[in-house]
Amino acid sequence: MSLSPVEQLKRLAAERAAALVKPGMKLGLGTGSTAAHFVDCVGEKVRDGLDVVCVPTSERTRLQAQGWNIKLSTLDETPELDLTVDGADEFDPALRLVKGGGGALLREKIVASSSKRMVVITDASKEVKLLGKFKLPVEADLFGLTATARKIEAAAKATGCAGPIVLRKTADGGRFLTDGGNAIFDCDFGVIPDADGLALALNAIPGVVEHGLFIGLATAVIIADAAGIRVLGD
Ligand code: 5RP
Repeated sequence: MSLSPVEQLKRLAAERAAALVKPGMKLGLGTGSTAAHFVDCVGEKVRDGLDVVCVPTSERTRLQAQGWNIKLSTLDETPELDLTVDGADEFDPALRLVKGGGGALLREKIVASSSKRMVVITDASKEVKLLGKFKLPVEADLFGLTATARKIEAAAKATGCAGPIVLRKTADGGRFLTDGGNAIFDCDFGVIPDADGLALALNAIPGVVEHGLFIGLATAVIIADAAGIRVLGD
């Protein structure tokens, strides 16, 4: 099957990350079109005899991994992972990320925070100086969504940004629900001048289950562009 130019870049980044995988490793498998290439790379290695155990970050990824007969586990059985490989919606020079475009941010963050290393794979289009080009996904409990949205607005204002907050919908107009049964607000705050402060402020809102700011989690970003591969971090 021939890949489009951007899919070829994603595959290249995924292959570089797959070179980090060693026999016996416990891996976290991310979610999204880039992470799916990594799952394919791991699947090919498993087909060729590699023994690893993997924890998927979404039902989608679980199904894909099952299709490759990859040995799967949960964080209950395998609470500490060696390496998680995932995509991102954007990343800055300090390896801070925005994630959640695919709606899997909660499990992605739980899995990444249970891993010794989190390697992000991406094409160069996701690179930004300051986060905020991509609308920030915030996962919220269904109870009290309007009140929670107001508190998110206040958190943004207190940390120097503002903009429309929209409840994510499915393609047929229904409410989008995460694997955990929560809603997602897509927050169009524009440039986020104080990502660390906003993350803390969002963490303090009771109705917010989790947000898409991944700070201090990524240990490396593997970036594929027309010139080849660049690596930020370890
Ligand atoms: C899913 C995510 C994805 O990693 C992010 O949306 C990037 O996806 P893609 O590789 O398809 O651009 O955070 O929740």
